Amino acid sequence: MDKFISLIENKIKNAFVEAGYEEKFAKVTISNRPDLCEYQCNGAMAAAKQYKTAPINIANAVVELLAKDSDFEKIEAVMPGFINITVGKNFLADYINKINNTEKMGCAIEETPKKIVIDYGGANVAKPLHVGHLRSAVIGESVKRMFKYLGNEVIGDVHLGDWGLQMGLIITELKERKPELVYFDESFTGDYPEEAPFTISELEDIYPCANKKSKEDEGFKERAHEATLKLQQGYAPYRAIWKHIINVSVTDLKKNYGNLNVDFDLWKGESDADPYIPQLINILNEKSLMHESQGAMVVDVVEENDTKEVPPCIVQKSDGAALYATSDLATLIQRKQDFDPDMVVYVVDKRQEMHFTQVFRVAKKADIVSEKTQLVFNGFGTMNGKDGKPFKTRDGGVMRLENLIKDIDDAVYKKITENRTVSEEEARETSKIVGLAALKYGDLSNQASKDYIFDIDRFSSFEGNTGPYILYTIVRIKSILNKYLENSSIEDNNILGAESDSEKELMMTLAKYNDIVENAINEIAPHKICAYIYEVSNAFNKFYHDTKILACEDEKKKLSYINLISLAKKELEECIDLLGFEAPDRM
Ligand code: ARG
Repeated sequence: MDKFISLIENKIKNAFVEAGYEEKFAKVTISNRPDLCEYQCNGAMAAAKQYKTAPINIANAVVELLAKDSDFEKIEAVMPGFINITVGKNFLADYINKINNTEKMGCAIEETPKKIVIDYGGANVAKPLHVGHLRSAVIGESVKRMFKYLGNEVIGDVHLGDWGLQMGLIITELKERKPELVYFDESFTGDYPEEAPFTISELEDIYPCANKKSKEDEGFKERAHEATLKLQQGYAPYRAIWKHIINVSVTDLKKNYGNLNVDFDLWKGESDADPYIPQLINILNEKSLMHESQGAMVVDVVEENDTKEVPPCIVQKSDGAALYATSDLATLIQRKQDFDPDMVVYVVDKRQEMHFTQVFRVAKKADIVSEKTQLVFNGFGTMNGKDGKPFKTRDGGVMRLENLIKDIDDAVYKKITENRTVSEEEARETSKIVGLAALKYGDLSNQASKDYIFDIDRFSSFEGNTGPYILYTIVRIKSILNKYLENSSIEDNNILGAESDSEKELMMTLAKYNDIVENAINEIAPHKICAYIYEVSNAFNKFYHDTKILACEDEKKKLSYINLISLAKKELEECIDLLGFEAPDRM
C-alpha cells in the first residue's frame, strides 16, 4: 500500500513531468513550517540549475497544473521557488479509511520473510540480573517484536553466560562450604542427586563471596581455575553441579524476565557453543587464517580503511583455553547449522563494540556464516543515575533489577492512590502494568546507542514524554468508547472528512503510521516508535480537548469521531506492543 506522502509525491512528480521537468526533482517532505503548509517540495531550486531558469517559474508551472486537483486544499508557489501543499480533507479521510481497513495499517509485510536471530538478554548464570542487563532485555525484546511484525521469522536467543570462570568459582566455594557433598567424594560411583545442593538465595550469596575470595586469595583463585578447566573437560561431578547451577538460575531468570514481559525462543548459552570450537579451530587452520602471537593463536582482522586500530582477534590462549571471541565464533557456526540466518542482531553494551568488530570480521573471512548473513551490532549506552555516573543503589552497590522494578512500581502506586479511591488490589495490579511501561518507555525513548539518565520521578510522571502518559491516553480513549457503547452501537467504521484543525491534525498524524513504523523497524530504532506515539497522544489529547465527542448532536459525525479515536487507539496499542508493554483498562 502506498504511503500517504507517496500519494502526494506521485501527483507532484506527474506535474513536473507534464511541465517538462525530470521527476527526480519532485521530492516531497513533511513541512518544516507547519504554520504555512503540511507538505512541501523544494525541488524547483535544484531543477532551476539544470534547466537554467528561475525556480519560481518551475514552481509556478507545477502548481498551475495541480491548482484544480481537489485532493489539495491549497497548493502554492512561494518565492524563491517553494511548493507549499495543504492536503484536502476528503483525500486525507479516504486514506485514513483505507489504513483503517488494512492489516497493520498498511505496513508492508515482507514478501520474502527473513530469518533473523536476535542475541539479547545475555544474563550470566548464577549472578543476579542487574540494571546493566536491563537495556539488553528491553531493547532486544522490542527489536524482536518489530521484526516479527513485518512477517519475518525471528528467533530470540538469551545467550547465557554459563561457561566461564564464575562456574569454577561457585564450585570451589561450594566445596569449602559443603565438603561432605557427594560431588566432592572422588570414590562416589552412584547417581548424583536430582535435588540441587543450594537454593537460589544461597547461590546468589555464593558467587559474590567466591568472587571476593578469588581477588584476595591466590590459592582460591588457582583452585577456581582448575575447577573451571575440569568442568569444561567434562568431569562428571562438576558437570552435575553445573547443571544444578543452570537449572536453579534459569528458573529464577525466567521469573525475572517474565516480570519484564521479555521472553526468549531459545535458552542457549556459551556452553552450547563449546562443542563447535574444534570445528572452528579446524576451519581457521585450513584457511591459514590463524598465527601465533606471544603464545596465543590470533587472527588478523585489520582492514585498509580502518580509522582506528583493530587488534587481532585472539581465539586461543597459550594454555589452549577458549575466550569470549572463540565462544561467539563457535556460536555462529552453531547458528549457521541450525538456522542459516539472513541476519544476526546483537543487542549488547556498546563497550563491547570492538569485540564484535573482530568477531564479525573473522566470521566473514573464514566463511563461518553464509555470504547473505548480515551481522549487526546494535550497541546500547549506559544507564546512568542523576549524578551522570552508572546507576547504583543508594549505598553505592550494584542495583538489582528486581529492586529497581519494585522502586518504579512503588512510585507509580503512590501516584495512582494519591487522589483516587481504588481497591488495594487494583492499585497494585495497575502499578505493575504502568510501572513496566514507565521503565521500558524511559529506556526505549532514547536512541539506544546513547547513555541516558534513569530518573524515576520523570519516567513515572503521567505528563510529558513518558510511558504513563501514553497509557493514560489509551485509557482515556477506552473510557470514551465504553461510554459510547452504553447507549449506541457501532454501525460502520467510516471516518468522515475533518471539520476542525485538531481533527485534521490527528488524521494527519495517524496517516503516517505505516511510514514511520516501517522505517523504525528497518533502522532498528524503537525510539522512533516512541516519538511517534508521543505525537499521536498529543494530537489525540488536543482533539479531545477541542471537541465534544460524546455530546455531538450529529449522530453520523459522532460515530465518525468514535471510529477515528478507535483508530488512534489501535495504532497506539500496536506500537506499545512493539515496545513490549501494554495498557490497563483503568488507571
Ligand atoms: N554475558 C555477556 C555479558 O554479560 C553478554 C553476552 C552478549 N552476547 C554475546 N553473544 N556475546 O557481558
